[in-house]
Order: sequence, then C-alpha cells, then structure tokens
Amino acid sequence: MALLLSPAKLVLLAVHCAVNGDIGTLTALAARHPAVLRKDLLLRILLTYLPETLPSSRYIGLIQHLEACEFPDTSNHDVDCNPVEALAEDDAAKRVRKLRLLPLASIESLDEPTDDPVTLFLLRRSYRVDEEAGLLDELPDLLLPFLNHSPCIRALLVSVILPLLRRNCEYYPQEPISYTLSGFQQLPDRVAANLLLSQTGAREADLPLIGRDLKGLIGPWLAGGKRWKQRHDAADSSGEQPDLCPGWDAVLCWLTAKASKNWKVAVNAIQQFDGPRDADLAGWGTAETIAQHQDYLLESYMRAVLASAYLIPEASLEALDGAYSIIAKVAGLWGLEPLAPLPAALTNLPPLADQVLDNIKAARNVVYMRNDLLAPSNPMTEPTEESVAFLQASVLSAHILTQAGCPCTIRRAGELALLQDEREQKAEAAKLIHAISNNGPKTDDRFWLKARTDILWLRNWGPEDSWNSTGPPFGVFSQVKTEFLEVEILRALLSNTRYALARSIYEDVSDQPLDPKILQETIYATAMTAYDNASNPNRTRGGLKKCDDILKAFPKTIQRSDPQAKRIEALLQATHSLSTHRLVLKQGEPFTPVVLRVHSDPISIIGKILEQNPKSYTHLHDLLALGSCMVEAGLTVHTKNKGPLSPEEEAALLTTAERRITAMCIDAALAEDDFETAYSYVVNRLPATSTSPSPNTSKPITDDYSWKAALQAGKYRLAHPASHQPHTTPRGGMASANPAVRHLEQRIECLATALRIAPPSTLQEIVNAFRRAEEELDVLIREEDAREDEWDARGDAMVNPLSMPGSFRPPQQRSTPAAPKPKRPADDEAPVSLFDLSRASVRSAQRNLSALSGLQRSAAAGLGRLATSRHAPKASDTSVSSPRDRGRDVGRGSMDLPPLSATESNFSAGSGATEEEGRNNRVRKRDQLREAAMGTLVSGVGWLVGAPAPAQQQGQGGQGQHGWE
Ligand SMILES: *[C@@H]1O[C@H](CO)[C@@H](O)[C@H](O)[C@H]1NC(C)=O
Ligand SMILES: *[C@@H]1O[C@H](CO)[C@@H](O)[C@H](O)[C@H]1NC(C)=O
Ligand SMILES: *[C@@H]1O[C@H](CO)[C@@H](O)[C@H](O)[C@H]1NC(C)=O
Ligand SMILES: *[C@@H]1O[C@H](CO)[C@@H](O)[C@H](O)[C@H]1NC(C)=O
Repeated sequence: MALLLSPAKLVLLAVHCAVNGDIGTLTALAARHPAVLRKDLLLRILLTYLPETLPSSRYIGLIQHLEACEFPDTSNHDVDCNPVEALAEDDAAKRVRKLRLLPLASIESLDEPTDDPVTLFLLRRSYRVDEEAGLLDELPDLLLPFLNHSPCIRALLVSVILPLLRRNCEYYPQEPISYTLSGFQQLPDRVAANLLLSQTGAREADLPLIGRDLKGLIGPWLAGGKRWKQRHDAADSSGEQPDLCPGWDAVLCWLTAKASKNWKVAVNAIQQFDGPRDADLAGWGTAETIAQHQDYLLESYMRAVLASAYLIPEASLEALDGAYSIIAKVAGLWGLEPLAPLPAALTNLPPLADQVLDNIKAARNVVYMRNDLLAPSNPMTEPTEESVAFLQASVLSAHILTQAGCPCTIRRAGELALLQDEREQKAEAAKLIHAISNNGPKTDDRFWLKARTDILWLRNWGPEDSWNSTGPPFGVFSQVKTEFLEVEILRALLSNTRYALARSIYEDVSDQPLDPKILQETIYATAMTAYDNASNPNRTRGGLKKCDDILKAFPKTIQRSDPQAKRIEALLQATHSLSTHRLVLKQGEPFTPVVLRVHSDPISIIGKILEQNPKSYTHLHDLLALGSCMVEAGLTVHTKNKGPLSPEEEAALLTTAERRITAMCIDAALAEDDFETAYSYVVNRLPATSTSPSPNTSKPITDDYSWKAALQAGKYRLAHPASHQPHTTPRGGMASANPAVRHLEQRIECLATALRIAPPSTLQEIVNAFRRAEEELDVLIREEDAREDEWDARGDAMVNPLSMPGSFRPPQQRSTPAAPKPKRPADDEAPVSLFDLSRASVRSAQRNLSALSGLQRSAAAGLGRLATSRHAPKASDTSVSSPRDRGRDVGRGSMDLPPLSATESNFSAGSGATEEEGRNNRVRKRDQLREAAMGTLVSGVGWLVGAPAPAQQQGQGGQGQHGWE
C-alpha cells in the first residue's frame, strides 16, 4: 500500500529511518516506492545517514534486496508518517536539497574501476565503518555476502581487510598498525609489507607463530592483483621481471635482514613457511595471482633462503643446525637431491667437492656471499645442485670447526674454500687441531679416528682417494699440505696419550700416511714438547713419562740406538736423577725439567744441588753419573748446530764434566767442614797430570777445576785442630798419631796434587801455600819429637814401654819389618828447599813457558813415580782409603829414595824400634810428597832455571851440588 506522501517527504522519511536505524520501515518504503526511492538514492541515504556503529547484519538484507531489486512482502508493516506529515511541501523540498548525500564515487585504489552502485556502496561503507566507528571487524559480516558480487569486493576483503584485520585484531591487537583501512590500502607495498610483519618474531614466544604470520598476513596480501605489476609493463627483454612484486621483494628483504640480525626468526620463518603458495586466505578466495606467479615466487624465495644461510652471523651449533635445516628445505622445495639429516651427514661426511663446479669455485664469488645476495645473477644463491652442495659443505665445515671449539660462520667457511689462501687455511687448521688436542677426550679412540677423518675431509670436502678427482682438492683446507695435517694430528694423538692408535695409523700400515723421516722427526719433537711441558722431573710422572712413552710407542721408527733417542734417554735420566734432590734455581720457583734443557750451564745445577742438599757431596758417584747424562744429552754443547758429537768431542766433554763435578764436591765437602772426604776426593779422584787427555781424545782438556779444588783442600784449616779425628782408622804407623800432624800431611798431599796438575802460571801461589804448610809441619814435628824424647827418657826407666800411660802404639806395630835406619843428617845437610825458588825465577820461567815444547814430556817423566799414589785402590765415594794403604803405595813407589831433609829424620836415638819405624816411614812419606812437588817444579820450572832433574838430584844428594841459586 503506497503512502500518500510527496517524493520529498518520502526521501525525508527514508533519511529519518536511516538515522534511526529503522531498517524495517526503510525496506517497506523501498518496496512500496521504487520509483522514488531508487537503488542508488537509497544507497546514498544509507551511506550518509545509517549509523556506522549499526551491526552489518541488521542491514545487509536490505542491501541484498536492493542488489536483487526484489523485496519481501511488507504489506503488514505499518509506516509511521508522523515525522514528515506536518511539513509544508516547500519546506520539505528545501530540506531535501540540504541533505548533502554522499556520492557513490568511484575509488582509485581499486584493481579495476567500477560504477556498480552496490559495489561502490559496500566499499565506501567499509571505509566509513572503519574510519567513523573503528569497527574493522564488522567488515567481513558486511562484505562476505557479496563476495561474488564483484571481484573488487573479494580483493578488498581478502588482500586488504583480511591481513589488516588479522594484524590488528587477531594476531597483535596490542600493537595495531595505526592506519585506517583506506590509508593502509594506499601505502606503498614495501611499507605495507614491513608494517604487516613489524611484530612478527619480535618476542621469543612468537617464534612458532612466524609461519602463521607469513601465511596469514603476507599470503592474502600478495593475493591482491594490486601487488603485481602487469605483465606487459614488467617483463623485460631478458624475461626477468624485476620489481614484479615489490611487496614480495620487501618480504624477502625482511627475511634476509632477520637472518643477519636475528637469525632464529629467519630460520623459523623458513621452516614454517613453504612460500606464498602456503597462503592462508581464510577460505575467502583462491590465490590465483599467486598460482600465476608460482615459479617466480618460489625461486626468489629459495634465493632468499640460501642468502639467509650465508647471512647468519652466529657461529654456534644451534645456528648451524638451523642453517642446515633451511638448506634441506631448499632441496626439498626445489626438488633437488634430498639432504641427509645433519647428524647422518656429520657421521658420513658426503663427497661434495665433486659436486661443486667451477662456476661456484671462482674466488670472485666471495663477494656474492656478501653483496647482491638476492640478485638473479648471483650464482651462490641460485637454487642449484652446485650452490646447495657448496652451502651444505660450508655448513658441515663450520659445524666441525665450531663443535671442536673454533667457532666458524658459514660465510667464513665458504670464504676459506673460495679464497684458497694457504696461510689463512693453515692457521685455521692449526687452530682446529690445537682445539681438538686440548679439548678431546683422553680415552675414546673412536673420537680421535673421527677427528682425523673430519680434518682430512675438510681438506677436500670428501675422502681423499675415493673418486677420480683429477682437479686440485677443494675444501676449507685445500691449500694445506696433507703432511702438515697428518703431523699435527699425530702430535695431537701423542699429546693425548693415544699411542696405540697413533702407531696403528702411522707405523703399522703398509701405506704410511707420513714419510718415515717426517714421522720420526714428529715423534721426537712431540716427545720434547711433552718434556718441556713437564713440571715434575720424575720420569715416571707427567710430562717426562709422556716423553718416554712417546719414544717407546714407535718401536719400528725409533730405535734405541738412534743417537737422538740416546740423547733424549740421557736427558730423561739426568732429569730424573735431579728429582731425588731438593732444588730451587730461582727464588720461589720450583725446578722444572725445561730449565735443565735450556740451561746455559747445566753442570752448575749440580753446584746448586750441593749447596741445597747437605751431605750430597758424598754421592759423588751419582753426581758424576748425572754429569755424564747431561753431556750425553748434549746439554753442554751450545753451538747452533746441535748435530751428534764426535766420540772425541763427547769424551772431552765427559772428562771436563767429571773433573768439574769432582771439584765441586771437594769444595762442597770443605764448605761442610768435611776435610777428610775432600782429601779423599783429591787424592783418589783428581787427574794424574794437568795435561792428561781423555783416552779417546787428542784434544787437551782445559781443567781449571781440579787444581783449584786441590789447592782449596790444601789451604783448608780445621776449625778445631785439636778435636780433629780423622776418620781414616785404623791409624797405622805411617800416619802421625798427632791429628794436627796428620792433617798437615794431608794438606800437603793435596797441595802436592795441586802442584802436579796446575798450570805453571799458578804455581807460585801453590808453592807458597805448600811452604807455609811445610813450615807448620816442621814446627809441629819438632814439638812432637821433643815430647817424644821426653817420654822416651821417662820410658827408659820402665820395664815395659807398652805399660806407658798414653801409649798410642798398638802391639802389632812391632812386627812391621824394620826399615833401614836412616842416618841422622848433619846440620849442614839442611834440606834443599825447592821452595826457595825465588819469585823472580818463577816469573822468568813463566815468561818462557810458551816456548817449552818439551815441558810436558819431561813433566810426565818427572811425575811417573807420583802417579802410583793415584792408582792406589779407589775408596768408595763416602769414605777414604786407609792411610796405611795409601802410605804403602806411596812408599812402594819410592822406596829407594833417601830423604832429602835432615830435619824430618831428626829423631831421638833412644826411641824404640817401632816408634822409630813409624816416624821413619812418616818422614819418608813426607819426603816423597816434597819430592813429588819438587819433581813438578824441577821439570816444569826448575829445569828451566837450571835445576837438575829430580833423579840426578836424588842420586847426588846434598845442597851444595845442586847449584840452584
Ligand atoms: C677412475 O678413472 C678410471 C679411468 O679414468 C675409470 O676407469 C674408473 O672407473 C674411475 N673410477 C671412478 C670411481 O670413477
Ligand atoms: C702440559 O701440561 C699440562 C699440565 O701438566 C697438561 O694438562 C697438558 O696436557 C700438557 N700439554 C701437553 C701438550 O702435553
Ligand atoms: C717417582 O714417581 C714414582 C711413582 O709416582 C715414585 O714411586 C717414586 O718414588 C718417585 N721418585 C722420586 C725420586 O721422587
Ligand atoms: C774410548 O775408546 C775405547 C775403544 O776405542 C772404548 O772402548 C771406550 O768406551 C772409549 N771411551 C770413551 C769415554 O769414549
């Protein structure tokens, strides 16, 4: 039933209903007055006056009626005309003119322009609902019923409203994009893409949702035709389509930027997103545009994935695992040979070098791992079998290095392989093996075998000989010589005590990986490294044990007789014997073996031992053995060229060491007031002559040690002579019963030794000491004689001299065979004292010494007799030989010599036979000492100044005939 209202009043009534949201009345009006309330007019009224907050469901029915131009039966609907009935027609017309209805103007941002009023109404209504009411989430209800009405509506809903709605209302309602629907739609694509993804992966908890975002935001957004350039204006002559889809380019840039700044986001994105074909359109449409550009989208995505792998800056196993997983994804999505899972690939390292062709191997490609990663011309990110193989090999290499403790990024691994810089590669290889050596387990041989396999694989990204590789090796260590790697591996095995394994790899095989000479050198070097690293000088512990074990581990390569093996063995022995002593070389620093090896004067260490270990001088034998070891170890040679010594050289060094150590022990004994031991060493251990060469050497040995030690002993004065009890018991008749006399005799003996072996330039000093000692002795002996005479006088009155109190003479002395009783010399037979030799004459002698070629020979002749005393049975190092033996030796050697000095034989005629004998022997011995000394002087100096040879002198006797003055 039509109302009796003018058209103006009808329009005003419709506006009134729209303002009030009275859809029922509007529907009735539209149904009854189609001529006045035309579709477009009514849509403009709705667009202008229907409140934006009104739920879409309330009015989409009306729109659908308008769209179909079919209305339901509204005859029962009462229309209230009151709001307009009273108006004058003029007034109504005037009001209609002032309505300012919004136009259904066309929209520029649409894919395709349209003038369909329903479409234009729906789009305009959508913008207004969003802008005026902020009810973006009302729009699906509004538009979904009209999806098939127009492609424009579907495009807006799917590619604009859906991503924005999800972004702002569903995924990140706390951080919405602050653009209206219309404003967002007009943004440049790159900006829009980045806004859509601005919250993606921002929080760790969101990592599993990155795929959702790409599928749910980017997928539908890309489905819009507006994202794509038209084929005719995008395709260039090469068929490439740069900027075909700037929004997608922006997404790929976002992905690679994440790879370099926050790689987990990139890795998760790639793991969760198979590319735009994965788009989630909420069932509102089909992604025809995406399907249309599928190849382009997938290839460019693959490029971005490969680029992301290179861009991951972190050298961690987690990052490398991630990188490997995305490469595997490329192989899967791009239909390449599938990659083995990472653990399997690491176990059975695949041969990859032969898959990497020359187009990848070029060094110039290094720049493509950094720049232009997404460019279609970049061969490194082009999804091919070769680029994937190269990247896989780079990831596996970085993984091996990183796992071993040498963190390495994928790009670094790739650069090592591409640049082929030998120094870089070698440094990296050394670092790797060092790390393995330091961190590897000390027990598990499988670990070490695997480590070696890995290292060799790194050289050529494949096993060495498993295929016909005609070209040079290619890998991160390709420029490093296999020998270098094997040597380093061997060192690592040895320093980790993997001896049996090392032997099985390097010695017990027919095809040895190392040249035998290099193998030997390496073993020696490693043994020495272990030695130098040792802190304990005990050879059964730590570094020294290691050194020892290393040498023993290769019985076919290291023969015990090899000179170097012998040297090291001597070194170990020397070091070990140091472990038995307390030894500090530097304040507060305990002794370490390497100090011995590099010491400029290792024998001096023995001096330290003597200082720091009381009584250690009594271990002369051990110390001499230690010295020999030092010499045999080559420690006393300090020439640059440490080749093996000739037997002569070694013999000379041995002799020198022996003499020096003996001298040190003598000094140490004196320092510890143990004169007897010092004396024993002087008479038993010092050389016979200053020039006596070692039997095997023609070289004279410079020995300033022996005579000095002898001189020191000869000058030694007892702190308490009276209490001195020589431990040279039993005392025979040949030794003085008087300790002081006995001591002086010993000193003189030491001085005589010094005289024998000292160089001529030093004789004067020794002679002086000798003379002083002799004078002291004379004084003592005179005192003793006087005392004895007194005793004798008393003893004559006694029946049995043995009952005499204080008798020292044991009964058995009586059975000593009587020596011819010497005549008491006359006073004018005062001894020819050689020591009257003037200072001047000694000096003049010295001046001419260098000219004396015959000196040594005659000295040797003159000393022949004395030498017998040295050859007396050697006492043990800790005790001296009994003076009786020694005296007898001396006596035997010169039994036929008459005493030179009358003074010493000046004894009482009344003394008993035994006493006389003892004294007689003593006197004789003293004479012999002097004799020996004179022999030296006469042959060495006296001869020069006109003195007769000792034999002549003895034969003639008497001072007058010598004419020495
Ligand atoms: C190696 O090369 C030889 C000849 O060039 C060929 O006969 C052989 O089959 C090749 N082996 C492999 C494993 O490729
Ligand atoms: C060096 O010595 C230390 C401590 O004694 C030891 O841990 C290390 O393994 C040794 N290094 C080598 C190379 O023998
Ligand atoms: C060396 O070490 C072994 C084993 O630890 C020990 O039995 C020996 O007494 C040590 N030797 C010295 C001289 O310390
Ligand atoms: C000296 O040579 C002999 C044989 O020529 C040899 O038996 C001896 O061991 C050598 N002595 C030294 C100290 O080299």
